[in-house]
Amino acid sequence: MKGETDESRATLGSRLSAVLVAAGSAVGLGNIWRFPAMAGDNGGGAFLLLYILCVIVLGLPLMLAEFSVGRASRRNAVGAYRKLDRRWSFLGYNSVLVAFLILGFYYVVSGWTLEYFVHSVTGTIGRYDTPDAYRGIFENFRIHPWRPTVYAWIFVLITHGVIALGVRRGIERSAKFLMPLLFVVLVVLAGHSLLMPDSDEGVRFLLRPDFSKVTPRTVLAALGQAFFSLSIGMGCMITYASYFNKETDLRRTAVNVAVLDTVVALLAGLAIFPAAYSAGIFSSAEVPTAGPDLVFITLPALFNSMAWGGLWAAVFFLLLVVAALTSTLSLHEVVTAYLHEEWCMSRKGAAGLTTVSMLFLSALASLSLGMLSDWRICGLTIFDSLDFLTANILMPVGGLLTSIFVGWRFERRLLRRELGIRGRQRSGRLTFLLFMLRWVCPVILLAVFLDNLGLL
Ligand code: PFF
Repeated sequence: MKGETDESRATLGSRLSAVLVAAGSAVGLGNIWRFPAMAGDNGGGAFLLLYILCVIVLGLPLMLAEFSVGRASRRNAVGAYRKLDRRWSFLGYNSVLVAFLILGFYYVVSGWTLEYFVHSVTGTIGRYDTPDAYRGIFENFRIHPWRPTVYAWIFVLITHGVIALGVRRGIERSAKFLMPLLFVVLVVLAGHSLLMPDSDEGVRFLLRPDFSKVTPRTVLAALGQAFFSLSIGMGCMITYASYFNKETDLRRTAVNVAVLDTVVALLAGLAIFPAAYSAGIFSSAEVPTAGPDLVFITLPALFNSMAWGGLWAAVFFLLLVVAALTSTLSLHEVVTAYLHEEWCMSRKGAAGLTTVSMLFLSALASLSLGMLSDWRICGLTIFDSLDFLTANILMPVGGLLTSIFVGWRFERRLLRRELGIRGRQRSGRLTFLLFMLRWVCPVILLAVFLDNLGLL
């Protein structure tokens, strides 16, 4: 191997750190903004049930697969596959590419959360009366020639600062501080929302299963959301697991991460819908609940109608900033670790090169919503192309090939060792996992991929 040797490679200090950093990657904008909006649009509790099923059937086996690949090889995503089976190195390149492209637009949205946080703190967010006014503000902000780009850059530079400090001093230390902070803030917000008068209607909206809204598309939406939310198919879990110590129990870590990720998504829904119903903000059909509109239009209007609205807005956007940061850290690390180990660069140099590329890509993605909206790839803006290419093509293909690799090619001895399955005692679990990885995951992911391309 080029770059670091095994002995000099960073290792996380404790098993708790392993859970915190991996949960940091999983818990992100996907949980706090995308999940509630999707559940609201797709039958509430019915979507939740489907989502949990996807996490158990596909998410957990694939997370275990990525954890095993990472810790067995103790390499970045490309180096991991190269070490285990040279012919599969391309899968590592796919992971690094997905992480790189996702970062391009994730930084833009993270920048928006930072700008809204700043406006909440300075009080400028509380100046308007109607959701329509907030829509105008958001639309103008998104297409502004430089403001969103500058905020995306600030986010890139904050992430760079942590990554450049290294795995132990940067990523691990920040996860130990940011993840508890995120939970406390979220519990406070959900508690406040649930205590508002007539909040039960919002709880019912989120949790009552409405199976009439479930279609095959809903299943695919739940699956895509589960993948994105668990950070699967883009090398994050491989890279982070390569830093886990030998004592870390991969099965328990994967279950903890999946549970934490789902609990955060649910709490985010409970922080949003009961308060929104209580304030009567959802009684109008005009009020947007989907996509970025929920967070950047509906919620600011909601906070404005509450007592101490400015404070709640600041707390909520702080939550989004923290969640986004722990995820950008993991994606930035995938690219940094690759450059550091495969291109023989110093860690600081690798982080710097990733950062400079991200300043460029995030600016392009951000400007493509305004000034550069004429620059199109197959009819899509640069921002939308990055989203489409990663979510619909590269991620499902990455998941599909990872399950095939670990199910069929990965040495059984190594898999047993990594999963702590010894002797005959627990062989049933291994057989079950292999069955999922060999047959169930590939078939479902192939269907998802073909459907995304409109071929099914
Ligand atoms: N899981 C993160 C979220 O839910 O927002 C996003 C993400 C992070 C996706 C890291 C992919 C990844 F590799």
